[in-house]
Amino acid sequence: MSELVLGIESSCDETAVAVVRAGREILAAPVESQVLEHARYGGVVPEIAGRSHLRVIRPLVDRALVDAHVTLDDIGCIAVTSRPGLIGSLLVGLSAAKGIAFVRGLPLVCVNHIEAHAYAATMESEGEHYPSLALVVSGGHTALYVARSPFELELVTRTLDDAAGEAFDKVAYLLGLPYPGGPSISKLATTGDRTAYDFPRCKPKRGKPAFSFSGLKTAVLYHLRGQDALAPTPPPDAIPDRADVAASFEEAAVDSLVAPTVAAAVELGLPRIHVVGGVACNRRLREKMKAAAAEQGLTALFPAPAYCTDNAAMIAGLGWHLWKAGRIAGLEADALAQ
Ligand code: KG4
Ligand code: ZN
Repeated sequence: MSELVLGIESSCDETAVAVVRAGREILAAPVESQVLEHARYGGVVPEIAGRSHLRVIRPLVDRALVDAHVTLDDIGCIAVTSRPGLIGSLLVGLSAAKGIAFVRGLPLVCVNHIEAHAYAATMESEGEHYPSLALVVSGGHTALYVARSPFELELVTRTLDDAAGEAFDKVAYLLGLPYPGGPSISKLATTGDRTAYDFPRCKPKRGKPAFSFSGLKTAVLYHLRGQDALAPTPPPDAIPDRADVAASFEEAAVDSLVAPTVAAAVELGLPRIHVVGGVACNRRLREKMKAAAAEQGLTALFPAPAYCTDNAAMIAGLGWHLWKAGRIAGLEADALAQ
């Protein structure tokens, strides 16, 4: 029996297809990013996203199969992201997956995008992975989960306001840096002084971990505009300390993720931390999380950068576990925004 799963992901602004064997061995995982289509708007435009998925999904399935040197005859199961995400985008992937499953008589499994992100941390490393504390940190999410198995996740806490990635994107916009903000802030930060400004940090709270990024974002805004909330944001070339602001912001954002996460892992008695989602690409976060975890005798595991951001390898990978656990979906399966 084939152990190959074809995974399809279209929940936001990346169309992705992957072929993965037995939950771990990634044979192909092409991603078609829409970043350039949305860049001029400074964020994802749902209508554009849906139409773009529709345009590329079919050729991308073909490309994944060709890259993996297999055909649909070799596939044992179809896995697809069904939630959470932009509804018009999710429906494109779900409809494509249902079509292939129906025509080929293959089982279909519906995958939760967040659970798949958390699973990504385990795909390329050997050894024990559970129980763990999963920090899912992206443009839309900043949340902690206790993971007891690939698909048994329990929410511990989520951000009280903005997601960390959103704060990177907004601060980048204020500094006149290109979207998405995370990579551009990181790049500029390498030339700045991380201690130049003491922006506010989110501190760990016993028994009640929480994240918050709107105060940090507002502090950067006031730093740039002065205390007059109605003053215009200065043009980027009129901000002489841009690199220092980027570096100090990045340091505060990273500290605001690291301290509450490590404290929660200690409090919950969890020996390992999995950090996933687009912001997990951040090099400073990787460095500081590993060091802070090690200080407490914990391990911190990150996926390779290509599997931090949206991809279908994590969908096909987690899909294999769901398939083996008999969690097959019917063709009436629906997409859910939340
Ligand atoms: O997981 P993802 O691709 O999409 C979702 O939001 O689901 O994450 C994208 C987010 C963006 O906000 C982007 O600015 C952020 O991840 N990001 C980073 C870095 N690379 C991407 N943030 C900080 N540092 C990075 N190196
Ligand atoms: Zn995502």
